[in-house]
Amino acid sequence: MNNDLHPDLARILVPEDTIQAHVKVLAHQISLDYADVERLYLVGVLRGAFIFLADLVRHLTIPHSVDFMSVSSYGKTAVSGEVRIVLDLREPIVNQHVIIVEDIVDSGKTLSYLYHTLKGRGPASLRTCSLVRKHRDHIDVPLHYLGFNIPDVWVVGYGLDYADRHRTLPYIAELKEEVYKK
Ligand code: IMP
Ligand code: MG
Repeated sequence: MNNDLHPDLARILVPEDTIQAHVKVLAHQISLDYADVERLYLVGVLRGAFIFLADLVRHLTIPHSVDFMSVSSYGKTAVSGEVRIVLDLREPIVNQHVIIVEDIVDSGKTLSYLYHTLKGRGPASLRTCSLVRKHRDHIDVPLHYLGFNIPDVWVVGYGLDYADRHRTLPYIAELKEEVYKK
């Protein structure tokens, strides 16, 4: 299998069947937790989360709607780096039950910003869901639903990209350091 790996990739961290199994488990858990809610409002964070969200919602068994936000961050590694909304929700979320769906929590800066921004809009409830979380120091933000913990390396596939590459791989793979530390 590894013989077919793209030369940019070091190894597969999470195989396709493992991802699919975990996505089903997450959807099942969310369906149970929100069984009594009139409608769940899922907020996907573009662009990385769209593949995960597409699979997740197709396993939900409860009424829900989907919307998207997009943010850009200044100074990726700078502690002082700011996050800015470049695409916002179409509707107010007052009195809605909301889950933010992210692809990955790295420093936690993006999720923390979105969590506190949406919290300020008066939702009935607000939770967070991420497919993966890197093993490193995070900004303190609640993470209610999580697929996988992974090592602190750059990963691609299943929505995650490096300079728009490798996003559509069905698995999550570690990028070779020489590719992203050039
Ligand atoms: P954070 O604000 O540091 O948590 O970074 C979050 C965003 O950076 C994610 O939503 C991703 O878009 C991007 N990101 C962080 N690490 C990776 C990675 O390993 N692969 C692809 N994208 C990543
Ligand atoms: Mg993202």
